[in-house]
Amino acid sequence: MLYRAPSGESIHVTRQGAQVTARDFVALSSTCPHLGCRVHWEAGNNRYFCPCHNGVFDPSGVATGGPPAEAGQSLPRYPLAVRDGLIFIEVSAAPPRARAAEPMTLTQWFG
Ligand code: FES
Repeated sequence: MLYRAPSGESIHVTRQGAQVTARDFVALSSTCPHLGCRVHWEAGNNRYFCPCHNGVFDPSGVATGGPPAEAGQSLPRYPLAVRDGLIFIEVSAAPPRARAAEPMTLTQWFG
């Protein structure tokens, strides 16, 4: 599923396990770390793909092809937690340029 954060960031949330724990989900930025194009999921190829320069990422967001792989630039991953069947993703509420140096941690968030 695609989630839009309050900051406007677009985040892919995917299920990778059979249980309902934080380890069974991953939240990845949909912004390519190379030059900022939007990546999309290709189920048939089991990968994220960036059409701008043929960037390829595995299901965990690790760059495996194209300029991002050459530069070691994986998709940014967001911490998440599962509580009472709900997924909480740790994102900044501020637009990227106004963001503080340190984002709020899940411990701070949940108190
Ligand atoms: S912007 Fe994604 S590979 Fe260049």
